[in-house]
Amino acid sequence: MNLIFIDRLPFVRYIRHASSLFQDKILQYTLKVQTTREKLIRILQNAHAGECAAAFAYRGHWMSLKDSPEKTRIKEIEAEEWDHRRRVGGWLEKLDAKPNKIREKIFWSIGRTLGTTCFLSGWFMPMYFAGRLESQNSVEYEEAAAFARELGMHDCVEDLLDMARVEVEHELFFHETVAGHRLLPIMRRVFGWS
Ligand SMILES: [Fe+2]
Ligand SMILES: [Fe+2]
Repeated sequence: MNLIFIDRLPFVRYIRHASSLFQDKILQYTLKVQTTREKLIRILQNAHAGECAAAFAYRGHWMSLKDSPEKTRIKEIEAEEWDHRRRVGGWLEKLDAKPNKIREKIFWSIGRTLGTTCFLSGWFMPMYFAGRLESQNSVEYEEAAAFARELGMHDCVEDLLDMARVEVEHELFFHETVAGHRLLPIMRRVFGWS
């Protein structure tokens, strides 16, 4: 049988068409998975660097305070941020990715600077801005968990949601700590938190 004749058979044309549609679907799925994976990696890289900044900022913060329950709690929060950083680093490794070196350096500097300014900026400002930043951290982990869910990484989803829960606890601590302060209404109007 002539090959050109085989090409023209409706059955063969149908198979070709179906095969091409299937390949397109596979390609679309692969691109979607890659995109979601890349989004998850990006957000984890941001969180990894952000946790370093947060931990150093809290180190400066508790060191600037007199012995008190607040000082003890902020010391604990520093330890929880280092724990988050370690766990986020683990998920990056599982995704065959690494922390973003430039972002790490920038956030290391930010954390060190914020930690030092806590000795100069008084009691209220570090408490207020810590709470405001914590409210963003929990949202970041919830977004990362949504990407992990799309990728079917169920252990990662649970871990990220647990970290989001801890960030909410941090936010609540700072929220309760600054509640009733005379500067709060002004700061709330300008920066919109609490
Ligand atoms: Fe954290
Ligand atoms: Fe936190």
